Amino acid sequence: MDLERLKKEAKKEAFLIRDGFDLERWRIKYLGRKSALSLFFNSLSKLSLAKKREQGKEANAVRHFFASLYKQKKEDLENNSFFPLPLIDITRPGEKIHQGYLHPLTLTLRKIIDSFQKMGFSIIEGPEIETEYYNFDALNISANHPAREMWDTFWLKSKVKPSSRAQVEGSQKSKMLLRTHTSPMQIRYMETHQPPFRIIVPGRCFRYEATDPSHEIQFHQVEGLMVGKNISLANFKAVIEEVVKDIFKQRVLVRFRPSYFPFVAPGVEVDIKIRSKIENKSTNEKSTNEKRLKIKENEWLEIMGAGMVHPDLFRRVGYKNNCWQGFAFGLGVERITMIKYGIDDIRLFFGSDIRFLEQF
Ligand code: DAH
Repeated sequence: MDLERLKKEAKKEAFLIRDGFDLERWRIKYLGRKSALSLFFNSLSKLSLAKKREQGKEANAVRHFFASLYKQKKEDLENNSFFPLPLIDITRPGEKIHQGYLHPLTLTLRKIIDSFQKMGFSIIEGPEIETEYYNFDALNISANHPAREMWDTFWLKSKVKPSSRAQVEGSQKSKMLLRTHTSPMQIRYMETHQPPFRIIVPGRCFRYEATDPSHEIQFHQVEGLMVGKNISLANFKAVIEEVVKDIFKQRVLVRFRPSYFPFVAPGVEVDIKIRSKIENKSTNEKSTNEKRLKIKENEWLEIMGAGMVHPDLFRRVGYKNNCWQGFAFGLGVERITMIKYGIDDIRLFFGSDIRFLEQF
């Protein structure tokens, strides 16, 4: 009989006693007539006198121990001061729950959406899998158009023979691809809506090209489209200035450079220049601030392509009278985020490196 083990067990179980029933059960198990201890006492009679004396003494000690434990527990219960669970220090500061972070692109996207929403733009979403018709032909980029090379494309396997001309056969039978920009939503939206309207279309785009610090096979754009009777590039400039100021919370200059996209005329590229807030401060202070913000100040940075919607598009979507005009733009979300946080490699966004993601 391992008396030590029995003692340990009894102690452990005594610890769990919560009421009189538990206590009685415990008493019967450890001090009752059929308890292991009683049986042990009974078995002593078969031993020699010397052994009887020695083991009897030990067993007696255990019985005393059990009896006093029983008494103690009984008193505890009676006094209601019984507290069987380990004490909890309720004044100890709690353990901090590890919280996740929003992805920097999510942060930027939310900010951009919020800014446009404040100016009355509706948020529209479109499919990531597009037809060749909407992605290219309907935007004046036909199969042999030299501008087509600007958009390296992931094609999806389809049953339509490669030779079939999407434009001729119509949008239904067009080949499928992963959209290379959000511009196809200009057409899709105009096909089902009459002006005046102002929308933005945030979304993921894909291009089949080699990755490097400024190219990824996936990235995000925010397409914009505002059409009405008197919408001009001046309106566009005002809208963009407002949004950019809201995003960067700094003084920002906006400039247009002539450019070419087949679905706008004229086409422009939009650059911004973030004006240093601290122009008048000493160079020393300025350099530490620049390090912290990491924003390239006083340098023209390209953020999007834009222009006045080409009349071909209006005709194509069936706008009858020739009275509409509007601007369109395609804003690079990665680009804005890189400028805002001083990130120099676009591949970091999709690398899932927690050390990068934790910083925002
Ligand atoms: N879709 C173009 C691209 O991905 C960007 C663009 C240029 C969008 C001009 C527009 C626009 O809406 O008007 O390169």
